[in-house]
Amino acid sequence: MTHEVAVIEGDGIGQEVIPAAVAVLDAVAEANEELDFAYVEAEAGDAVKEATGEALPEATYETAASADATLFGAAGETAADVILPLREAVGSFVNVRPARAYPGVDAVRPETDVVFLRENTEGVYAGHEDRLSDDLSTLTRVTTSSASRELAEFACEFVADGRGPAGDPEEGFTVAHKANVMRETDGRFREEVLAVAEERGVDADEELMDAFATKLPLDPSQYGVVVCPNLAGDVLSDLAAGLVGGLGLLPSANVGHDNALFEPVHGTAPDIAGEGVANPTAAILSAAMLLEYLGHVDAGANVRDAVESVLEEGPRTGDLGGSAGTEEVTAAVVGRL
Ligand code: NAI
Ligand code: MG
Repeated sequence: MTHEVAVIEGDGIGQEVIPAAVAVLDAVAEANEELDFAYVEAEAGDAVKEATGEALPEATYETAASADATLFGAAGETAADVILPLREAVGSFVNVRPARAYPGVDAVRPETDVVFLRENTEGVYAGHEDRLSDDLSTLTRVTTSSASRELAEFACEFVADGRGPAGDPEEGFTVAHKANVMRETDGRFREEVLAVAEERGVDADEELMDAFATKLPLDPSQYGVVVCPNLAGDVLSDLAAGLVGGLGLLPSANVGHDNALFEPVHGTAPDIAGEGVANPTAAILSAAMLLEYLGHVDAGANVRDAVESVLEEGPRTGDLGGSAGTEEVTAAVVGRL
């Protein structure tokens, strides 16, 4: 089976870590006769904007919209102009962000193993901001029952399929919100998510997001799957990234009903871009999520195992205290496949 994968490296270390992820996909395809990838390369980001005036050319949007899945690196200053439309191109309603501490990596909380399921289309990121006067700016927050329920349905399926950290359909999820203050918007979100869980017979508990931000670093082992509104999911998942050893490790998936986009959580890392020293782990784990999304669950697990073994035994990049370059680490992962 040949899958069409759009490849958008973007700026900075996107141009270093995405080729690493593609090398891993190639190795997987080579080991599996029934699996093949047809890559369609497309451009986005600061450099394209400088050259053409547009950070996300129409052709790139179309490429992502029509591919089976997209692998995206990062964009610099134009990140919001690139990633928000790209998420729309693939019809994504949920951002899946696993944060897991790996053996051999110096983590603040080595017992961390959580997956954030973040609402991906509305909340305070819906883009309704206004400058009303020299003194006053406002933001309109958007919460719909339909988007809240769509996210909750996904969360229930995710848990039921045993895709949570515990791998147990019984593990349920936690919904983090601030419905005691934002009674209307988060109130609606909370009510709909809990209602769907109840309808589906999935065990769900809730936390106020500020209390959650205290409890997670104190004892991450009490959480598994965490369902959040957009901004909360962004911030809390970055908090979890800090617990497991940094941004170079975290993959993410923007999932829609019949398309998806996979990207490392990190940005373009201008401080190390062009030096060949970026950690490819987040991008490679994003490729593992892409494999799973396309139905190749065993291949995805193999990639994860290979990454885990390299993290434990080395070689490691500088952010993890090693001295290896991106290519050396990638070759080690490919070697284990
Ligand atoms: P960043 O994630 O690019 O870098 C933060 C720190 O983490 C830096 O010290 C960097 O060297 C390090 N780091 C990140 N990824 C790494 C990796 N794979 N290996 C080793 N070290 C790594 O975030 P920052 O500095 O806030 O943003 C830089 C640029 O990236 C900005 O222009 C921002 O707009 C953009 N950005 C884009 C995103 C996207 O396209 N999805 C997401 C976040 C930021
Ligand atoms: Mg973020």
